[in-house]
Amino acid sequence: MTQVNPARRLASAVLARVLERGEWAAPALEAELAARRLDLRDQRLATHLVYGTLRRVLRLSGLITRFCRRPPSPGLRRALLLSAFEALGSSTPPHALLSQYAALLGSGTARLLRAWLAALPPSTEELEPAYDLPPWLAEEYRAAYPDCAEAVMADLELPPPLWLWVAPGGTDRLQREGAQILRAVGQVCAVRLPGRLPESPSYRAGLLQPVNPASAAAVRALGEVQGRRVLDLAGGRGVKAALLAAEGASVLSADLSAGRQRQAGENLRRLGLTAEFHLVDLTESQLGRLPSSERVLLDAPCSGSGTLRNHPEIKLRLRPGDLAERAALQARMLKVAAELVLPRGRLVYSVCSVAAAEGPEQVLDFLAEHPDFSLVDPPETGVPLGPAAAGHYTLALQGVDSFFLAVLERR
Ligand SMILES: C[S@@+](CC[C@H](N)C(=O)[O-])C[C@H]1O[C@@H](n2cnc3c(N)ncnc32)[C@H](O)[C@@H]1O
Repeated sequence: MTQVNPARRLASAVLARVLERGEWAAPALEAELAARRLDLRDQRLATHLVYGTLRRVLRLSGLITRFCRRPPSPGLRRALLLSAFEALGSSTPPHALLSQYAALLGSGTARLLRAWLAALPPSTEELEPAYDLPPWLAEEYRAAYPDCAEAVMADLELPPPLWLWVAPGGTDRLQREGAQILRAVGQVCAVRLPGRLPESPSYRAGLLQPVNPASAAAVRALGEVQGRRVLDLAGGRGVKAALLAAEGASVLSADLSAGRQRQAGENLRRLGLTAEFHLVDLTESQLGRLPSSERVLLDAPCSGSGTLRNHPEIKLRLRPGDLAERAALQARMLKVAAELVLPRGRLVYSVCSVAAAEGPEQVLDFLAEHPDFSLVDPPETGVPLGPAAAGHYTLALQGVDSFFLAVLERR
């Protein structure tokens, strides 16, 4: 009897949590990996299957709708999705896939699976359209990237590298532990590690911080921060706080979530860095509660529509109507952030979103209501940027996320 590879069983369990129970892929995968003992190779295969399938889930679901006369059971749907992803994108021979997924589903399914695999197009390149987005979201991408939207949308399907900020002097140590540094974008390196990140001696020694180059660009947009106080508003789990503190800034990080701030504090301790934390609601004025500063970063809560490589399930859940609610929250927070900027100080507004309502439109509305602020070009961030109607988008190719950022200077 065929033994199902545990990576396939695990991938199906994660897809059940994401597609049927509405959970987020990253913690669902983490929980399933923690619950079973898979070797590193199978852990990597399970991760590849989960994310690869979710990155193509809309078009693969379209194939299922055309293939099945009536809606398949959830378990069958998952097996059809996973087997199609593998058949289109891997070198596993069809007979091996057939026996694996027939064993996963149970007896009496081999005929159906054989017909399914035979009905698939020959390769991923044959899937139509060339990207996996709901039409309204594809329009947002087209508006954000008028010159290269097709390339940006197609790139969302490729697995991103592991992006790591590496502390000064950390690259030698990283290489000594067998890691390969593939390339660098700004100060962030694409790294291939020999094992899992949490077990890396360099990570444990506080020399590494996972961060996408686009996220690091928002920090760089503040300009020189060494020796300055920086307000890190909506600081969350403190990724940007860590980069700022590493640059020598005195960081004051404010957020609504105590849990995230606790994680931020633990992470900073691992890195040997410090920040001051304030638990506040940034929809309410903080004048007199938080100090004003020359450098203020508001990395506002948003749809996350620019991070689909790592969060492909967002495209399944986000509705165009959700954007107005997010935009209203961002507008309130931006107003509060602006009050804390000293004269001739700089406010950077960033979101990991391509939606115009959360980015350029937000900034145009802000400028109309805040004549004491003007939009200026960002300093060199090390990450290619493209202009928007107001502000800039990071050029989201080769694993770089889409971040919108605007640099606003107070007179
Ligand atoms: C995009 S995340 C921030 C990520 C963070 N800057 C980093 O680099 O790790 C947005 C954050 O906004 C926070 N947030 C949402 N509503 C808020 C509010 N009303 N006041 C303060 N923080 C809020 C969330 O808790 C979340 O941590």
